[in-house]
Amino acid sequence: MPKTRYETLALAALALACQNGREAPKTTTATHAELVQRGERLVQLGGCSDCHTPVAFDPKLKLPLPQRELFLAGHPAGAPGPEAKPGATDTAVIGPTFTSFAAPFGVVYAKNLTPDPETGLGSWSESDFIKTMQTGHERGTGRPLLPPMPWQNLATQPVEELRAIYSYLRTVRPVKNRVPEPEVPAPVIAAIGASFPKPEKGID
Ligand code: HEC
Repeated sequence: MPKTRYETLALAALALACQNGREAPKTTTATHAELVQRGERLVQLGGCSDCHTPVAFDPKLKLPLPQRELFLAGHPAGAPGPEAKPGATDTAVIGPTFTSFAAPFGVVYAKNLTPDPETGLGSWSESDFIKTMQTGHERGTGRPLLPPMPWQNLATQPVEELRAIYSYLRTVRPVKNRVPEPEVPAPVIAAIGASFPKPEKGID
């Protein structure tokens, strides 16, 4: 026998009620574990390790391979930088560990992103990290970040994605490695910084 309109509506309402009853209350806030997992994927996708993990030449494979024990530890202290100076039309010459970059304006070394408190990002708060990525200045007001750090790509990301990256970076193995300061004259650093507009206020 065909159902009346009211019976159909009642059944639909019942189905909906059952479904609602089964479902756990939805939460929009990611758990810490989810945030870390998302951060790990973003770091993989963002290619952070390509510049922040030194490579070593593997003679068997005849390939430069990432040094896993120095994951995200930046340019190893004491390691050689680029041998050659960039030629007249070169953008940069990359050193043997792929963590040092000789640009026409000077040499820049990839930083230690591990949570080591003295030589890495251990002392950085979440807000320090987010401000740095959003403004291109260390902790929002400090020294301008130099190329080739692609902070402009990170600046366009929602804060939640930056929080995820920061949360993941806290979980990697801390490595004590003091990265050399860039060999770039102070006025050139200032000029690079001034060429990027600063936001009017921070995120706080
Ligand atoms: C093309 C190479 C390259 C890539 C890719 C790269 N970085 Fe960098 N990064 C650098 C260099 C070089 C520096 C040092 C810049 C300087 O001294 O001003 C740096 C600096 C930083 C700093 C500042 C740290 C400090 O102590 O001041 C942070 C944070 C950072 N990178 C995070 C990241 C993250 C996160 C990713 C991936 C999403 C990433 N980087 C991808 C090259 C790179």
